Amino acid sequence: MPVLENIGNLIDCPAEVPSGHLLKVEDAALVWDNSRILWKGPRRDLPARFAQMQRVDAGRKLVIPGLIDCHTHLAFGGWRAKEFEMRALGRSYLEIARSGGGILSTVQATRVATEEELLSKCLGHLRAMVRLGVTTVECKSGYGLDKPTEFKLLRVYRRLKKCQPLKIVPTFLGAHAVPLEYQSDRQGYVQFLVEEMIPAVAAEALAGFCDVFVEESSFTRSEARRILEAGSACGLRPRVHADQLTDGGGAALAAETGASSADHLEFISQEGIRALARKDVVAVALPLASLYLGSKPMPARKLIAAGVKVALATDFNPGSAPSCHLPLAMSLGCTMLGMSPAEVLRAVTLHAAQAIEMQDSIGSLEPGKEADFVLIDAPDFTHWLYRLPPSTVAETYLGGVKVWDSSEGN
Ligand code: NIG
Ligand code: FE
Repeated sequence: MPVLENIGNLIDCPAEVPSGHLLKVEDAALVWDNSRILWKGPRRDLPARFAQMQRVDAGRKLVIPGLIDCHTHLAFGGWRAKEFEMRALGRSYLEIARSGGGILSTVQATRVATEEELLSKCLGHLRAMVRLGVTTVECKSGYGLDKPTEFKLLRVYRRLKKCQPLKIVPTFLGAHAVPLEYQSDRQGYVQFLVEEMIPAVAAEALAGFCDVFVEESSFTRSEARRILEAGSACGLRPRVHADQLTDGGGAALAAETGASSADHLEFISQEGIRALARKDVVAVALPLASLYLGSKPMPARKLIAAGVKVALATDFNPGSAPSCHLPLAMSLGCTMLGMSPAEVLRAVTLHAAQAIEMQDSIGSLEPGKEADFVLIDAPDFTHWLYRLPPSTVAETYLGGVKVWDSSEGN
C-alpha cells in the first residue's frame, strides 16, 4: 500500500467542484492499494493507519489525474504527408478526399498492412502517448471498411489491451466512409454494416461503442441513425463524428440516439447545442484537426455557456490530425477554443471519462477510482500548459504502477 508524498500541488476536478474550477491540494499525499485510490489530501492529515506504509517521494512535483484521449483512430496503414503539402498549397480536405486521397487512401494502405505491422506501429504511438501523461486511449476502427480489415484493426486493439499498460477502449467505426467497392451501392454498404458487421463485432465483444461519420462525404443522417440503432440493439453505445465540415445535423442525431458523445462540432448550430445540453451528450473538441485543416474550431464557449460538458482529444489519425500530442491539444484548447486551463483539465479527465462512459472508474483522483496519475515538473497546471516544455511529463502511473519515468528514459 504505497503513499505518494511530498507532492507540490495535487490538482484535480472531481464532479463536486464547479465547472471552471480546480481542486488544489498543496503539500499533498495520495494513497492507493491494488490499483485503486484509498485516500488523498494534505499530507498533514494523512490518517495514522497509513503511517507505516511504503513512501514514494514526488519531489515537490505537480500531480494530476492520468490524461484520457477519448477520440483517436490509432491503427492505420501508411501516412499522408503529401496531403499535408497539398493543403498547404491551397487544396481543401474534401477536394483531396474526392480525388482519391483522404480516408479511402488510408483504407488501401491498411488493407495491405499485416496485423503485426499495425500492432507494432500502435505500440510506438502508445509509447509516445504515455510519455505525454496519457493513461487511457479510445481507439476507433474505420480504415478497413471490409470485414477482414475491420476485424484486423479491432483484434489489434484487443491485443494492445493485454500487451502494454495503457487502458484501451475500442470503438467500431465501420461507418467512416463508403468503401470504393460500394460507391454505386451505398445502401448495400449500410445494410452490410447493420446486418453483418455490427452483430459480428458485438458477438466477439471487439468494441463497446459504434461511431458514424455524419458528413456530405460519408453518411447521411438517416443512414447514420440506422447504423447507430443497429449498434445499440447489439449493446454498442453510440458516438457520432458530427458537424465537422458542414452542419449536417449530427449533433441533434447524437442527442436523439442517446449517444455518449458528439465529436468535432466545428459547424454545430444553436439547435444542435441545445439538443446536446438537453440530453447531457458530451461534446468532444478536437483542436488538432482544426489546426491541421486550417478550419474554424468548435465553438466551445457557446457549448459551455449552454451547459454542455466539453471534453477534448487528439483525433489522432493520418489525415486531419497526425499528432498524438494531447498536451499540445490542451494548450490549443486555451488558445484556439478560449477554454480556461481549469476547463481544459476537466475536458481531458472527467468529461473525457464520461465520453467513454468510464467516469465511475477513471477521470479524477478519488477513493475507489483507478490510481492513474501523472507527475509533472511545473509549478502549477496553468504554467505547464503555457510552457509545454519538450520533456513534459516526469512520471506516469497506471493502476498505481509506474509505467514511465523520464529520469530512467525507459
Ligand atoms: O476525425 N472525420 C473523420 N475522420 C477523421 C479524419 C480521417 C482521415 O482523414 O483519415 C477525423 O478527422
Ligand atoms: Fe475522428
